[in-house]
Amino acid sequence: MISIDMKDKTALVMGVANGRSLGWSIAEKLLEAGCRVGFSYQGERLKSELEKLTAGKEGTWIQQADATSEADLEALFATVKEQFGGLDYLIHAIGFAPKAAMEGRFIDTAPEDWNTALSVSAYTFVSAARHAEPLLREGGSILTLTHHASQQVFPKYNVMGVAKAALEAATRYLSSDLGAKGVRVNAVSAGPARTIAARSIPGFASMYDQAGEAAALRRNISNEEVGKLSLYLLSDLASGVTGQVVYVDAGAYIMAMKPQG
Ligand SMILES: NC(=O)c1ccc[n+]([C@@H]2O[C@H](COP(=O)([O-])OP(=O)(O)OC[C@H]3O[C@@H](n4cnc5c(N)ncnc54)[C@H](O)[C@@H]3O)[C@@H](O)[C@H]2O)c1
Repeated sequence: MISIDMKDKTALVMGVANGRSLGWSIAEKLLEAGCRVGFSYQGERLKSELEKLTAGKEGTWIQQADATSEADLEALFATVKEQFGGLDYLIHAIGFAPKAAMEGRFIDTAPEDWNTALSVSAYTFVSAARHAEPLLREGGSILTLTHHASQQVFPKYNVMGVAKAALEAATRYLSSDLGAKGVRVNAVSAGPARTIAARSIPGFASMYDQAGEAAALRRNISNEEVGKLSLYLLSDLASGVTGQVVYVDAGAYIMAMKPQG
């Protein structure tokens, strides 16, 4: 029998806003496997939600950290060291693009919106990995969340598509750097899921329905399916897998046309 036992492991999950967040689906699976999990949240207005989610969950702690702030990251990883001593898993579930950049045409993306989207959605993965590096144990694993808009045009996804392409390239470069320490880096490319970040994409409801209809499995994914793939990638079951973008989309984005029958 194969079982995933993470009782002596530690994880930091960055980017849980509420119970529908993909980061939370991953955290739930880590907690089920016995892992101790720390959480960082962007701003104080998210604190009570995370307090509710983690209440009674043994080995958890939470700390505010804006991932674009070097000072916040320093304080966060000092807490990781204090609470855990070292780190086995880092989960980056952070993304943001200004509304204006997703309402109009891609060609009109303002430089400051480009910089914000790329900085929050891609660079924070690099800076979090750098801060985590001294704490990461051999056999450790890092994960981020991406979307197929990095490869094909999804109307209104705009600069987020470019940010996801940068994030996927960063996954490969980080896996090369951290591979020297025996640490793996992968990206989970998820089909649409109804979260706060997704709802900010204009036309998301129709994108969600279309993905479900077009998928080889003829349905959308569940958040739990993101958690299950992530648990596999983080765990030793995926010990030979690094630098990859792995899809959990019910087979939506392999299809050139809607399935027949
Ligand atoms: N929901 C989907 O359809 C979908 C599909 C594929 C990939 N993703 C990706 O999954 C990741 C998680 O998003 P989600 O869909 O769970 O939505 P979500 O809104 O629940 O999570 C996004 C998180 O990013 C955090 N964040 C934004 N800016 C931040 C900053 N400066 N510092 C720290 N945290 C910051 C938010 O506080 C929030 O917790 C994102 O990268 C998103 O692009 C989502």
